[in-house]
Amino acid sequence: MNKETRCSFTYKAWLGNIENKTQTFKVTGENSNADFAIAECKHGLGNLATDNGNIAVNLKISENLPTEGFSIVGKTDNVEITGGDKIGLLYGVYKFLTLLRQNIDVTNISLNDQPTVANRILNHWDNIDGSVERGYAGKSIFFRNNQLHYDADRLQDYARLLASVGINQICLNNVNVYFESAKLITEEKLPDLAKVADIFRPFGIRLIIAVHFESPVLLGGIQTADPLDEKVAEWWQNATKLVYKYIPDLVGFLMKADSEFRSGPAAMGRTQAEGARPIAKALQLFGGIIYWRCFIYNCMQDWRDTKTDRPKAAYDYFYPLDGKFEDNVILQIKHGPSDFQVREPNSPLLGAMQHTPQNMELQITQEYTGQQKDLYTLAVQWDEVLEHPINEKQTTRDIIGADNKIIALSAVANVGDDENWTGHLLAQANLYAFARLAWNPKQTPKQLTQEWIACTFGNNPKLLQPLTEMMLKSRAVYEQYNAPLGIGWMVNIHHHYGPSVDGYEYMKWGTYHRADTKEIGVNRTAAGTGYTTQYQPYVRDMYENLETCPQDMLLYFHRLPYNFMLKSGKTLIQHIYDTHFEGVEGVEEFIKTWDSLKEFMPQVAHESVKERFAMQLENAKEWRDVVNSYFYRKTGIDDAKGRKIYV
Ligand code: GCU
Repeated sequence: MNKETRCSFTYKAWLGNIENKTQTFKVTGENSNADFAIAECKHGLGNLATDNGNIAVNLKISENLPTEGFSIVGKTDNVEITGGDKIGLLYGVYKFLTLLRQNIDVTNISLNDQPTVANRILNHWDNIDGSVERGYAGKSIFFRNNQLHYDADRLQDYARLLASVGINQICLNNVNVYFESAKLITEEKLPDLAKVADIFRPFGIRLIIAVHFESPVLLGGIQTADPLDEKVAEWWQNATKLVYKYIPDLVGFLMKADSEFRSGPAAMGRTQAEGARPIAKALQLFGGIIYWRCFIYNCMQDWRDTKTDRPKAAYDYFYPLDGKFEDNVILQIKHGPSDFQVREPNSPLLGAMQHTPQNMELQITQEYTGQQKDLYTLAVQWDEVLEHPINEKQTTRDIIGADNKIIALSAVANVGDDENWTGHLLAQANLYAFARLAWNPKQTPKQLTQEWIACTFGNNPKLLQPLTEMMLKSRAVYEQYNAPLGIGWMVNIHHHYGPSVDGYEYMKWGTYHRADTKEIGVNRTAAGTGYTTQYQPYVRDMYENLETCPQDMLLYFHRLPYNFMLKSGKTLIQHIYDTHFEGVEGVEEFIKTWDSLKEFMPQVAHESVKERFAMQLENAKEWRDVVNSYFYRKTGIDDAKGRKIYV
């Protein structure tokens, strides 16, 4: 592949390959503050930017607009792009290029825009040895052999790509920090990291560093990492001072503590708030913040223990600490209480705390959602996450951007050094959708998907309509052949691709479906594990009651017999059989649709996705047969339609 395929959703604009042949543009700016935006605009326009262009494009900055905000006003022969600051102007330029790319008339337009969410964040789970945890698109674009190692040209393309969709913060290293990456905050690695910060800075993107809780011990030779120890506090202050000497505009740190064998304050008898304090205080001196992850649960559970219920853990740990954190601690909460499953409710912690700002974490990399082999348009799922009620008056979407509520959106990146960035070309739409939702969470999956398609392949309705439809359906199809009705997991252990119904059933991770010959599911109502009681009353009651519990989440909340009658008029077991057959048929339909779209894109793009679909079909069949056989063997209940089930 070449640079064209590599840049995809922005590449044509960047290479001046915009399909509008009649317009040319003369780009000027009011003063030197506009220089970078001018250069980016010309770069994006390519051959269409000329000194005697027939449309004048004027770039300026005005304090009347908010920071990061912009306006675009287009008349017959001129377009005014105004930014609230340098970055706002840059966003205005990218928007302008995106409009051109979608063949929208820029000479008859008036728009104003600004981000809803201040912190729009990508978390890379890249290891410093070059591997990527849960990465499905090649190796790290930042690291090799325990060092920063990258192609500067490519990194600049990446910064441009992210800025063009409004990302403004990025963490390069995995939340699981090991010894070598712990050293990113030391003199040994900081000079190199500062060079990466320099590449991202002009694009309005600032770095975050994931740090190790035991850094004072590992790097400072101190006996303890106890957050109440003065030596520990002093160590963090000195370390932080050094970091800011090299990267003065660093956003701050990201911490995974007391989670999945990472050490943390609980191990020392301290609360999470106490654990965060010395680091937060050190960061305060430099205006920095710390994102503190809430993904804490007992990962050494005995499967025989039916009292402990993993989804309850984050709330139990953090809710009592509301208001006890330093002001610059932002709690980073996974959207669901389990772990980025295909279907789960929202975490009850989101919106529950009144005095602690929150960062909702999504996962773009498709760990449980097809690993960029299977097509899965995450915008559809995220729309449901945003629509999830907090109480009778508010949805999650409503509390995004509000004070002391969700002031940050972050997501685990799906990018690696594959030529097209994301392995599956269509998985780029997930990166695009996350960034655009972080900018404005009100956008619909359809808008986001269409925009990405139009920016990537053009807006011919013969392509746009069927491809949008297919991408929007992809989540439902994947869910059909996956674990049923919100029960989750059922994946092969460790790597999490493909089916293994009992894979995690007798393990220590707290992820059980507890299927026997009569029933399946975990009772999480007040009478069961009590998980539902963590929600506000409206949401609690909705999930408690079998009548109001959304059907697709029934098995997340209730334990039910296989002959339980669903609202669809089917029994639970028949639903399992039907959806698994339908899922495979859905993939077969996708393949037909994709074959019909060949003429609308470069051959290399078409073929690469076709290859992925072949893998997806195999995977879907495997899921169908493993799941159906499993439940047939458990229950002995025949498929009402008599289809092939392996006995
Ligand atoms: C999941 C994932 C891990 C990751 C963890 C996290 O459990 O499988 O690879 O480290 O989430 O979010 O911290």
